[in-house]
Amino acid sequence: MADRASDHLPSCLQKCALRSSASGIEQGEDRAVGEPANGVAADLAISRRTTLKGPVAVAAFGILVDDHAVAQGDGAAHEPVVPEPNRAILRTKVNGQPVHLTIDARASLLDVLRDTLGLTGTKKGCGQGQCGACTVHVDGQRILSCLTFAAWADGREITTIEGIGSGGELHVMQQAFIDHDALQCGYCTPGQIMAAIACVNEGHANSPEEIREFMSGNLCRCGAYPGIVAAIADAAAKMRRG
Ligand code: FES
Ligand code: FES
Repeated sequence: MADRASDHLPSCLQKCALRSSASGIEQGEDRAVGEPANGVAADLAISRRTTLKGPVAVAAFGILVDDHAVAQGDGAAHEPVVPEPNRAILRTKVNGQPVHLTIDARASLLDVLRDTLGLTGTKKGCGQGQCGACTVHVDGQRILSCLTFAAWADGREITTIEGIGSGGELHVMQQAFIDHDALQCGYCTPGQIMAAIACVNEGHANSPEEIREFMSGNLCRCGAYPGIVAAIADAAAKMRRG
């Protein structure tokens, strides 16, 4: 017996698919099979079954499918790749390097960066969105990676503290933090620098007051705030000059 589209689904969704079959989908197929002289009906049955294996099953049941398997238009029969329950596919670029992983769908971006990719420059402070130590950029915007599902970053570009320098040179913000002694223990510093670059790019570094306001999500237990503000003001002027 030919396999059903529902055979490719997790068990809870198979029940849902079977209920759908009982209530209508398979009824349409039975009518076609019961009309052997009608070639159009037979074709309809085939196209319906074929279609159910592809994007319609995805739309109906919200399954994450490897689009390479679906998108290959070479006429060959390609089964969609359905990740195991609680798994997700992450195709992204991290610091300009392509990354293709199958991950736990519940994993935070912070944990994938640190534990899977070994990019430990991004720090875990509170793990609850309150300290800013885990700040990274996704498509150029600052985000808290501890509160972000890694699966959400699929198809987006991620930049961490390891990726902001170029050609062996520090980013001007990194150099400004050194020049202004803007750190003590340094634990908050990667998140401060990532947030500071975004703060400048957002146009929110025009005065010490504005810098303090738009950097207020990044805490420093060592109290290095005067140096941090001075560093951002200095780097902002240099970044504007290019
Ligand atoms: S570790 Fe993410 S905000 Fe504190
Ligand atoms: S330098 Fe120690 S927490 Fe900021």
